[in-house]
Amino acid sequence: MSSLTSSSSILDDNVNSNKQKRRLNILLGVSGSVAAVKGPELAIKLSKVANVKVIMTQRGKYFWNLTETYNKEMFDQFNTMENIQVYEDKDEWDVYKVVGKDEVVHIELRRWADVMVIAPASANTIAKLAQGLCDNLLTCVARAWDFKQDKLIICPAMNTMMWDHPFTLKHLNLLKEIGCSIVEPQEKKLACGDIGKGALEKVDIIVNFVLSSSTSSSK
Ligand SMILES: Cc1cc2nc3c(=O)[nH]c(=O)nc-3n(C[C@H](O)[C@H](O)[C@H](O)COP(=O)(O)O)c2cc1C
Repeated sequence: MSSLTSSSSILDDNVNSNKQKRRLNILLGVSGSVAAVKGPELAIKLSKVANVKVIMTQRGKYFWNLTETYNKEMFDQFNTMENIQVYEDKDEWDVYKVVGKDEVVHIELRRWADVMVIAPASANTIAKLAQGLCDNLLTCVARAWDFKQDKLIICPAMNTMMWDHPFTLKHLNLLKEIGCSIVEPQEKKLACGDIGKGALEKVDIIVNFVLSSSTSSSK
C-alpha cells in the first residue's frame, strides 16, 4: 500500500493549489464490498488524469488487501505509486492532539477534493450516507460535502438480494435528492456465485463517468 500522508501535506496541497491550472483532485472512497479488489485498478486509472487520494473504511481495507491474490499485477503496481496517498480512520485521530492547531483531516480532504467517488459503495455505507451518519473518515468527508461546488458519485456493489432489498432504492433516492450521482451496478456472476445485478460497474465506465461529470468543476 502507498505510504500514508502526513496531515500537513493536505494543507500544503490546499495552499499551493492553483485552482485555475491544476489537475482535478479526486477522492476515491473504498468501502467493504468484495469489489474493493478493483480499487487499485480504479485508483491507478484515475491517477493518469487526476490527483488521487484514497480513503478506506476498515472493511474496505480488508477487501482491498485481497487484491494481492485477485490481481497481483495491479496490487504491486499500486504499491509503487507514491503519489497516491491512502487514508484510513486512524489517520484522522492520530494527528488530532491540539485544538485550534491541528487540522481536521476530513475537512481538509473535503476542501482538497473536486470530486469524491465511492467505489465500491457497500450497502452499509450507502445506508449510513443516506441517513447522515458519519462514524468513520469516509462518511465524515461525505457528511461535510459541499454539493454546491463538488460532485459526489456513488458506485454500489453488493449481492443481488441486497441490491433488490427495498432499503437500497430508498437510500439511493435520498442520496440522489441531496445531489449525489449514482453509477448503478452491472448484472453478472457475483463473487458469492449468484447471478444478477449487484456487481460494481466496469472500472473504465466509472472512470469515464467521473471525468465527464467533473470537468465542469468550478472550484
Ligand atoms: C465475505 C464478505 C463479502 C461481503 N460483500 C459485500 C458486498 O459485496 N457488498 C456489500 O454491500 N456488503 C458486503 N459485505 C458486508 C460488508 O462488508 C459489511 O456490511 C461491512 O460492515 C461494510 O462496512 P463499511 O460499509 O464500513 O465498509 C460482505 C461481507 C463479507 C464478510
